[in-house]
Amino acid sequence: MKGWKLGDGGEQGSDAQALATFLAPLGVTLREYPVAGAAAPWLAPAQLDAEGQERLLAALDSVFRVLQEEKGYQERDLVVLHPEHPQLAELDAKFCRIHIHEDEEVRYIVDGEGVFGFVLADGRQLEVTVSAGDYIHIPAQVEHWFRLNGARRIKAVRYFSARGGWTPVYQERAMQQFPRP
Ligand SMILES: [Fe+2]
Repeated sequence: MKGWKLGDGGEQGSDAQALATFLAPLGVTLREYPVAGAAAPWLAPAQLDAEGQERLLAALDSVFRVLQEEKGYQERDLVVLHPEHPQLAELDAKFCRIHIHEDEEVRYIVDGEGVFGFVLADGRQLEVTVSAGDYIHIPAQVEHWFRLNGARRIKAVRYFSARGGWTPVYQERAMQQFPRP
């Protein structure tokens, strides 16, 4: 976790305990799982073909096994976004609006960076920058958004019990102002 910021020019910091206090009422969990050294050959390139993606997932499966035991996840796949991705702008726009899902959203960031935003219980809004080694669990129905930052590059594993619950359901609420690097 590289840091967090409250919206509209509010407080910011990098204290994990303070962040956990903001997120606990939402049921959002942020943990760290060090990225396996065996994954390194598939983390260096920005793009990966299907075989490279499978090899990367296999190298990261010690985390999958821990989560299977704890949460019962059945499947995992990989999101790979980079500046040359043909739908980068479209995907960024799709998730950079306040939305909820019918299912939980679970991500393990293994390369690059991204920003998750949340609507807190008191109406304030908060963005947190995640990077390699961060695992985030967002329960169903929690208002959030996701965007890329200036790095415009991320690799993240998604874990799930069933497919299809991740269509964003957009909310009417407006996003507060956050500085964009
Ligand atoms: Fe989402």
